[in-house]
Formats: sequence, C-alpha cells, structure tokens
Amino acid sequence: MKTNLIYKGDCTSVMLKEIEKNSIDLIFADPPYNLSGKGMEWKGNKTGGDWFKVNEAWDTMSAPEYMKFTRQWIAASLQVLKDGGSIYIACSYHNIAEVMIVLKQLDFKINNVITWQKTNAMPNMTRRMFTHSTEFVVWAVKGKKWIFNNDELKAINPEKQIDGSLKAMRDVWSLPLVQGKERIRGKDNRAAHPTQKPEELLKRIIVASSNKGDVVLDPFLGSGTTTHVAKKLGRRWIGIEKEGKYIEVAKKRMGV
Ligand SMILES: C[S@@+](CC[C@H](N)C(=O)[O-])C[C@H]1O[C@@H](n2cnc3c(N)ncnc32)[C@H](O)[C@@H]1O
Repeated sequence: MKTNLIYKGDCTSVMLKEIEKNSIDLIFADPPYNLSGKGMEWKGNKTGGDWFKVNEAWDTMSAPEYMKFTRQWIAASLQVLKDGGSIYIACSYHNIAEVMIVLKQLDFKINNVITWQKTNAMPNMTRRMFTHSTEFVVWAVKGKKWIFNNDELKAINPEKQIDGSLKAMRDVWSLPLVQGKERIRGKDNRAAHPTQKPEELLKRIIVASSNKGDVVLDPFLGSGTTTHVAKKLGRRWIGIEKEGKYIEVAKKRMGV
C-alpha cells in the first residue's frame, strides 16, 4: 500500500475507496466539532494576540447531519484499521456524545477518555458560564489486543514520582494551546489553520499506540500536525484533507 502521502478529498470516500482494508495501525482524527459561530472575534487580546472563533463552512451541520457524518467516517475508519489498531478521536463537549455513541454502536472497545487541560485557555467572553479549558481525546481499539508502550510513555512523561523516578502517564494532560514558533502563520500573520493541535499531544498518542514503521492515518489532516510528528518519529503516514489550501500548509510544514 502507498504510504507517506496526502489524499485530497472527503475522508469517508477516500478511506472506503483508496485505503486497503485492515492496513492501518493508528488513526488520529480531529474532526469538525460542529461548533462554528458567526465570526466572533477579539482583537487586541493582551495574552494570546488577536483571537477569532472557529468559523468554517466545514464545521456547521445540523444535529442529525452531524450524527450521520460521525457514523460514516468512524465506520470507514473501522474498515481500514488493522485488528488491534487504535483510533484516537479529539472532541470537545460539543461532540463527545456523538463520538462515544458511534464507537459503542460499532463495537469498539473504549480504553480511555484523555482530558487535555489547556493551560492557556481563552477566557469566557460571555461571563455566563465557567471558562472552557478542556478538550478530550477518546482512545478506542478494534479487537482485543492493542499496543500500549507504557515504558516509552514513562520516559517522556514530565510528571515524576515524589522521589524523582519515572511515573506512568495519567489520562489528564496539561498542555498549552499551540503558541509561539509552533503556530503556523500566513503572510497576514493570522493562523494558517484555525484549529492546529499541539505537537506534544500527537507525540504522546503516536508513542503510546504505534511502533517505528507502523502506518499512522489522519482523516482530517488540517495543517498536518499528525503526519509531521509521525514522520519525525519514524512512522509511515497518510493524511486526508478536503481543502487544498490546508494541504499546501501541511506539505510546506513537512518539507514534502
Ligand atoms: C479540526 S481540523 C484538523 C486540524 C488538525 N488536527 C491540525 O492540527 O491542523 C479539521 C480539518 O478537517 C477538514 N475536513 C472537514 N471535513 C472533512 C472531510 N469530510 N474529509 C476530509 N477533510 C475534512 C477541514 O478542512 C479541516 O482542515
């Protein structure tokens, strides 16, 4: 099977038509959360620079449409995953319900719901509810055996035991939103992609559930965080993205 490439198109069709069945070791998916607003923005924010609410056509569906969409792409993921393969799905409170229901309906085994505690979350502008400062990553597996590289995770875990020795990684990860040099910016200095994920998040996932030479697939590639980190860690990689402009961002980032 061809690897180390990016497909342009709808991920469900590409997975069903282009990717071999039972061929993928690890999927990381960061799907649309279906939360796009009406162009909210906050210029002159002192802590993180200008801020724009995600406002993308790919992120606006009705509730039944979103349920159908979630079922279709997760079913296609099930088809391409190897027995023993893992899928990690990024979610927020907006879409975790749909994701969990579909995983259960498709007989995945859910191993963890990782909480990403965002250490530099945006303040709540409405002042009518608690500040949202978490996202989740649901880890589910196909079949009964899976890869979990506990010792390698211990080695990269910033948390240590009281005596300074290595500690098993917990399911709560405190990480900042992408900032500084890691944030890819366009010529206008705006973020090149509205929802770029931190590389550290992907590193932990790829180290946890794949080995060198394994194939890592991201069906919603965006700016290419997953394939970039997979390549650096010696994994084979496949990305799928429907927007040509983001494929260009990912290719430039990876130097491919
Ligand atoms: C939440 S973003 C992913 C961001 C990515 N994790 C990163 O670090 O840059 C979702 C991406 O999926 C793409 N997308 C949305 N629907 C898609 C579909 N049906 N098939 C393929 N790509 C899709 C969007 O264009 C967007 O770039």
